[in-house]
Amino acid sequence: MPSKRKISGATVCADFNDLTAVMHYARAAHQLGLWESERILIERFFADKNAPLLEAGCGAGRVTLGLWGLGYHQLTAFDFAAELLDQARALAAERGADTGPHAIRFFHADATRLSQSNLLGYFAPKADAPKSKNAERAASLSGFAGALFMFNGLMQIPGRENRRAALRELHRVCAPGAPFLFTTHDRDSSSTERALWRLERVRWETGKQDPRLVEFGDRYFEEEGTGRTFMHLPNRAEILEDLAATGWTHEFDTMRSKLSRESKPVRDFSDECRFWLARRA
Ligand SMILES: C[S@@+](CC[C@H](N)C(=O)[O-])C[C@H]1O[C@@H](n2cnc3c(N)ncnc32)[C@H](O)[C@@H]1O
Repeated sequence: MPSKRKISGATVCADFNDLTAVMHYARAAHQLGLWESERILIERFFADKNAPLLEAGCGAGRVTLGLWGLGYHQLTAFDFAAELLDQARALAAERGADTGPHAIRFFHADATRLSQSNLLGYFAPKADAPKSKNAERAASLSGFAGALFMFNGLMQIPGRENRRAALRELHRVCAPGAPFLFTTHDRDSSSTERALWRLERVRWETGKQDPRLVEFGDRYFEEEGTGRTFMHLPNRAEILEDLAATGWTHEFDTMRSKLSRESKPVRDFSDECRFWLARRA
Protein backbone atom coordinates (compact mmCIF):
# COMPACT_ATOMS: atom_id res chain seq x y z
CA MET A 1 0.00 0.00 0.00
CA PRO A 2 1.46 3.43 -0.93
CA SER A 3 2.58 5.62 2.00
CA LYS A 4 0.08 8.28 3.18
CA ARG A 5 2.81 10.43 4.72
CA LYS A 6 2.78 14.11 3.79
CA ILE A 7 5.05 15.05 0.92
CA SER A 8 8.17 16.84 2.13
CA GLY A 9 11.25 18.35 0.52
CA ALA A 10 12.93 14.99 1.06
CA THR A 11 10.20 13.24 -0.99
CA VAL A 12 10.66 15.72 -3.84
CA CYS A 13 14.45 15.42 -3.72
CA ALA A 14 14.24 11.60 -3.82
CA ASP A 15 11.83 11.76 -6.78
CA PHE A 16 14.22 14.02 -8.72
CA ASN A 17 17.15 11.69 -7.94
CA ASP A 18 15.21 8.72 -9.29
CA LEU A 19 16.67 7.29 -12.51
CA THR A 20 13.54 7.98 -14.61
CA ALA A 21 13.55 11.66 -13.67
CA VAL A 22 17.31 11.96 -14.11
CA MET A 23 17.10 10.55 -17.64
CA HIS A 24 14.13 12.78 -18.47
CA TYR A 25 15.82 16.03 -17.38
CA ALA A 26 19.25 15.02 -18.74
CA ARG A 27 17.71 14.34 -22.17
CA ALA A 28 16.07 17.78 -22.11
CA ALA A 29 19.35 19.41 -21.11
CA HIS A 30 21.20 17.72 -23.96
CA GLN A 31 18.58 17.96 -26.69
CA LEU A 32 16.05 20.68 -25.89
CA GLY A 33 17.90 23.60 -24.35
CA LEU A 34 16.16 26.91 -23.69
CA TRP A 35 12.56 27.41 -24.70
CA GLU A 36 11.97 30.33 -27.06
CA SER A 37 9.88 32.09 -24.37
CA GLU A 38 12.71 31.70 -21.83
CA ARG A 39 15.23 33.15 -24.28
CA ILE A 40 12.99 36.14 -25.02
CA LEU A 41 12.59 37.05 -21.34
CA ILE A 42 16.19 36.30 -20.36
CA GLU A 43 17.48 38.62 -23.06
CA ARG A 44 14.88 41.27 -22.12
CA PHE A 45 15.52 41.32 -18.37
CA PHE A 46 19.15 40.15 -18.02
CA ALA A 47 20.87 42.57 -20.39
CA ASP A 48 24.38 42.40 -18.87
CA LYS A 49 25.96 39.10 -19.87
CA ASN A 50 28.94 39.71 -17.57
CA ALA A 51 26.84 40.16 -14.42
CA PRO A 52 26.89 37.34 -11.84
CA LEU A 53 23.66 35.36 -12.15
CA LEU A 54 22.26 32.64 -9.91
CA GLU A 55 20.12 29.80 -11.19
CA ALA A 56 18.11 27.92 -8.58
CA GLY A 57 16.95 24.35 -9.27
CA CYS A 58 19.26 23.95 -12.26
CA GLY A 59 18.53 20.22 -12.52
CA ALA A 60 20.56 18.60 -15.29
CA GLY A 61 21.57 22.01 -16.66
CA ARG A 62 19.02 22.66 -19.42
CA VAL A 63 18.75 26.38 -18.61
CA THR A 64 22.28 26.74 -17.19
CA LEU A 65 23.95 25.53 -20.38
CA GLY A 66 21.40 27.45 -22.44
CA LEU A 67 22.44 30.65 -20.64
CA TRP A 68 26.09 29.79 -21.12
CA GLY A 69 25.46 29.25 -24.83
CA LEU A 70 23.88 32.72 -25.04
CA GLY A 71 27.10 34.20 -23.64
CA TYR A 72 26.25 34.57 -19.92
CA HIS A 73 29.59 33.77 -18.37
CA GLN A 74 29.29 34.53 -14.65
CA LEU A 75 26.94 31.71 -13.77
CA THR A 76 26.35 30.04 -10.44
CA ALA A 77 23.80 27.22 -10.39
CA PHE A 78 22.52 24.97 -7.64
CA ASP A 79 20.13 22.10 -7.05
CA PHE A 80 19.36 19.83 -4.11
CA ALA A 81 19.13 16.68 -6.28
CA ALA A 82 22.72 15.42 -6.39
CA GLU A 83 22.11 13.04 -9.31
CA LEU A 84 20.76 15.85 -11.49
CA LEU A 85 23.61 18.11 -10.46
CA ASP A 86 26.10 15.43 -11.58
CA GLN A 87 24.40 15.45 -14.98
CA ALA A 88 24.68 19.25 -15.17
CA ARG A 89 28.39 19.13 -14.27
CA ALA A 90 28.99 16.45 -16.91
CA LEU A 91 27.19 18.48 -19.58
CA ALA A 92 29.19 21.59 -18.63
CA ALA A 93 32.41 19.57 -19.04
CA GLU A 94 31.24 18.27 -22.41
CA ARG A 95 30.60 21.85 -23.62
CA GLY A 96 33.83 23.28 -22.19
CA ALA A 97 31.97 25.31 -19.56
CA ASP A 98 33.78 23.77 -16.61
CA THR A 99 37.21 25.42 -16.75
CA GLY A 100 38.77 28.86 -17.04
CA PRO A 101 37.51 32.25 -15.84
CA HIS A 102 34.02 31.63 -17.25
CA ALA A 103 33.52 28.20 -15.71
CA ILE A 104 30.02 27.61 -14.34
CA ARG A 105 30.00 27.19 -10.56
CA PHE A 106 27.72 24.39 -9.41
CA PHE A 107 26.57 23.92 -5.82
CA HIS A 108 24.61 21.27 -4.02
CA ALA A 109 22.11 23.35 -2.05
CA ASP A 110 18.51 23.54 -0.89
CA ALA A 111 16.78 26.77 -1.93
CA THR A 112 15.00 26.99 1.42
CA ARG A 113 18.29 26.89 3.37
CA LEU A 114 20.95 28.61 1.31
CA SER A 115 22.71 29.81 4.44
CA GLN A 116 23.81 26.21 5.01
CA SER A 117 25.67 26.10 1.69
CA ASN A 118 28.84 27.96 0.72
CA LEU A 119 27.11 29.71 -2.16
CA LEU A 120 28.09 33.14 -0.90
CA GLY A 121 31.72 32.01 -0.63
CA TYR A 122 31.83 33.07 -4.25
CA PHE A 123 31.74 36.68 -3.12
CA ALA A 124 34.31 36.37 -0.34
CA PRO A 125 37.83 37.71 -1.04
CA LYS A 126 40.35 34.98 -1.80
CA ALA A 127 43.68 35.04 0.04
CA ASP A 128 45.63 33.89 -3.03
CA ALA A 129 43.95 36.19 -5.58
CA PRO A 130 45.58 39.41 -6.93
CA LYS A 131 44.43 42.63 -5.20
CA SER A 132 42.51 43.82 -8.25
CA LYS A 133 40.56 40.54 -8.37
CA ASN A 134 39.68 40.89 -4.69
CA ALA A 135 38.51 44.46 -5.28
CA GLU A 136 36.25 43.13 -8.03
CA ARG A 137 34.92 40.51 -5.65
CA ALA A 138 34.42 43.08 -2.88
CA ALA A 139 32.45 45.26 -5.31
CA SER A 140 30.12 42.38 -5.90
CA LEU A 141 29.67 41.64 -2.18
CA SER A 142 26.15 42.99 -2.37
CA GLY A 143 25.06 39.78 -4.11
CA PHE A 144 24.01 38.27 -7.40
CA ALA A 145 22.87 40.65 -10.12
CA GLY A 146 19.96 38.40 -11.03
CA ALA A 147 18.33 35.06 -10.24
CA LEU A 148 16.23 32.47 -12.06
CA PHE A 149 14.13 29.51 -10.89
CA MET A 150 12.80 28.06 -14.13
CA PHE A 151 10.32 25.38 -15.16
CA ASN A 152 8.22 25.67 -12.00
CA GLY A 153 10.99 24.54 -9.63
CA LEU A 154 9.85 26.98 -6.92
CA MET A 155 6.39 25.38 -7.03
CA GLN A 156 7.94 21.98 -6.36
CA ILE A 157 8.70 23.04 -2.80
CA PRO A 158 5.94 21.63 -0.58
CA GLY A 159 4.37 24.11 1.85
CA ARG A 160 3.77 27.82 1.31
CA GLU A 161 6.05 28.81 4.18
CA ASN A 162 8.88 26.80 2.59
CA ARG A 163 8.31 28.47 -0.78
CA ARG A 164 8.42 31.82 1.01
CA ALA A 165 11.65 30.72 2.75
CA ALA A 166 13.18 30.07 -0.70
CA LEU A 167 12.00 33.48 -1.93
CA ARG A 168 13.57 35.11 1.15
CA GLU A 169 16.83 33.22 0.64
CA LEU A 170 17.06 34.28 -3.00
CA HIS A 171 16.26 37.85 -1.96
CA ARG A 172 19.06 37.67 0.63
CA VAL A 173 21.74 36.59 -1.87
CA CYS A 174 20.72 39.05 -4.61
CA ALA A 175 21.85 42.66 -4.97
CA PRO A 176 19.33 45.54 -4.78
CA GLY A 177 17.57 45.92 -8.12
CA ALA A 178 18.29 42.33 -9.19
CA PRO A 179 15.64 40.76 -11.45
CA PHE A 180 14.22 37.36 -10.52
CA LEU A 181 12.60 35.27 -13.28
CA PHE A 182 10.52 32.20 -12.49
CA THR A 183 7.50 30.26 -13.69
CA THR A 184 4.41 28.72 -12.13
CA HIS A 185 1.23 27.11 -13.34
CA ASP A 186 -2.01 29.06 -12.92
CA ARG A 187 -5.09 27.35 -11.46
CA ASP A 188 -7.32 29.95 -13.12
CA SER A 189 -5.78 29.81 -16.59
CA SER A 190 -8.75 28.11 -18.31
CA SER A 191 -12.37 27.21 -17.66
CA THR A 192 -11.42 23.51 -17.53
CA GLU A 193 -8.77 24.20 -14.88
CA ARG A 194 -11.25 26.28 -12.86
CA ALA A 195 -13.87 23.51 -13.01
CA LEU A 196 -11.34 20.86 -11.94
CA TRP A 197 -10.14 22.97 -9.04
CA ARG A 198 -13.73 23.60 -7.90
CA LEU A 199 -14.10 19.81 -7.60
CA GLU A 200 -10.79 19.58 -5.74
CA ARG A 201 -11.99 22.31 -3.34
CA VAL A 202 -14.99 20.13 -2.46
CA ARG A 203 -12.62 17.22 -1.77
CA TRP A 204 -10.60 19.37 0.64
CA GLU A 205 -13.75 20.68 2.33
CA THR A 206 -14.95 17.12 2.92
CA GLY A 207 -11.54 15.71 3.87
CA LYS A 208 -11.41 13.50 0.77
CA GLN A 209 -8.24 14.93 -0.77
CA ASP A 210 -5.11 12.84 -1.28
CA PRO A 211 -3.77 12.71 2.30
CA ARG A 212 -0.19 13.08 1.09
CA LEU A 213 -0.89 16.63 -0.16
CA VAL A 214 0.15 19.55 2.05
CA GLU A 215 -2.15 22.32 0.81
CA PHE A 216 -5.00 23.04 -1.56
CA GLY A 217 -3.41 23.55 -5.00
CA ASP A 218 -0.97 20.65 -4.59
CA ARG A 219 -0.75 17.74 -7.02
CA TYR A 220 1.31 14.56 -6.78
CA PHE A 221 1.29 12.32 -9.82
CA GLU A 222 3.33 9.85 -11.82
CA GLU A 223 3.89 9.86 -15.59
CA GLU A 224 5.64 7.28 -17.70
CA GLY A 225 9.06 8.55 -18.71
CA THR A 226 9.02 11.45 -16.21
CA GLY A 227 8.59 9.78 -12.85
CA ARG A 228 6.79 11.14 -9.79
CA THR A 229 6.11 14.86 -9.65
CA PHE A 230 5.00 17.07 -6.80
CA MET A 231 3.66 20.44 -7.99
CA HIS A 232 1.85 23.26 -6.22
CA LEU A 233 -0.48 25.12 -8.61
CA PRO A 234 -1.11 28.64 -7.31
CA ASN A 235 -3.45 31.33 -8.50
CA ARG A 236 -2.08 34.72 -9.46
CA ALA A 237 -3.09 36.40 -6.17
CA GLU A 238 -1.13 33.86 -4.14
CA ILE A 239 2.13 34.59 -5.97
CA LEU A 240 1.61 38.35 -5.70
CA GLU A 241 1.15 37.95 -1.92
CA ASP A 242 4.23 35.72 -1.61
CA LEU A 243 6.41 38.17 -3.53
CA ALA A 244 5.22 41.09 -1.41
CA ALA A 245 5.77 39.12 1.83
CA THR A 246 9.37 38.27 0.93
CA GLY A 247 10.68 41.63 -0.25
CA TRP A 248 10.26 41.17 -4.00
CA THR A 249 8.50 43.76 -6.16
CA HIS A 250 6.31 42.33 -8.89
CA GLU A 251 7.21 43.83 -12.26
CA PHE A 252 5.71 41.64 -14.97
CA ASP A 253 3.88 38.39 -15.61
CA THR A 254 2.37 36.70 -18.62
CA MET A 255 1.35 33.27 -19.87
CA ARG A 256 3.94 31.47 -21.99
CA SER A 257 1.58 31.17 -24.96
CA LYS A 258 1.52 34.99 -25.19
CA LEU A 259 5.28 35.01 -25.75
CA SER A 260 5.77 32.09 -28.12
CA ARG A 261 3.93 29.11 -29.55
CA GLU A 262 7.01 26.96 -28.73
CA SER A 263 8.10 23.95 -30.79
CA LYS A 264 6.36 20.59 -30.47
CA PRO A 265 9.26 19.04 -28.49
CA VAL A 266 9.05 21.91 -25.99
CA ARG A 267 5.24 21.57 -25.75
CA ASP A 268 5.64 17.80 -25.26
CA PHE A 269 8.17 18.42 -22.48
CA SER A 270 6.25 21.13 -20.64
CA ASP A 271 2.72 22.52 -20.17
CA GLU A 272 1.57 26.08 -20.43
CA CYS A 273 2.89 28.19 -17.55
CA ARG A 274 2.99 31.75 -16.26
CA PHE A 275 6.29 33.65 -16.35
CA TRP A 276 6.99 36.07 -13.48
CA LEU A 277 9.56 38.83 -13.23
CA ALA A 278 10.10 40.31 -9.78
CA ARG A 279 12.76 42.76 -8.67
CA ARG A 280 14.67 42.90 -5.41
CA ALA A 281 13.72 46.07 -3.62
C1 LIG B 1 11.17 20.83 -13.10
S1 LIG B 1 12.82 20.68 -12.59
C2 LIG B 1 13.61 21.83 -13.67
C3 LIG B 1 15.06 21.53 -13.87
C4 LIG B 1 15.75 22.50 -14.84
N1 LIG B 1 15.78 23.86 -14.31
C5 LIG B 1 15.03 22.48 -16.16
O1 LIG B 1 14.35 23.47 -16.46
O2 LIG B 1 15.14 21.49 -16.89
C6 LIG B 1 12.84 21.54 -11.04
C7 LIG B 1 14.20 21.50 -10.34
O3 LIG B 1 14.11 22.20 -9.11
C8 LIG B 1 14.87 21.49 -8.16
N2 LIG B 1 14.39 21.84 -6.82
C9 LIG B 1 13.15 21.69 -6.32
N3 LIG B 1 13.12 22.09 -5.03
C10 LIG B 1 14.38 22.51 -4.73
C11 LIG B 1 14.98 23.04 -3.55
N4 LIG B 1 14.28 23.20 -2.41
N5 LIG B 1 16.28 23.37 -3.60
C12 LIG B 1 17.01 23.20 -4.72
N6 LIG B 1 16.50 22.69 -5.86
C13 LIG B 1 15.20 22.35 -5.86
C14 LIG B 1 14.66 20.03 -8.50
O4 LIG B 1 15.64 19.18 -7.95
C15 LIG B 1 14.68 20.09 -10.02
O5 LIG B 1 15.96 19.90 -10.53
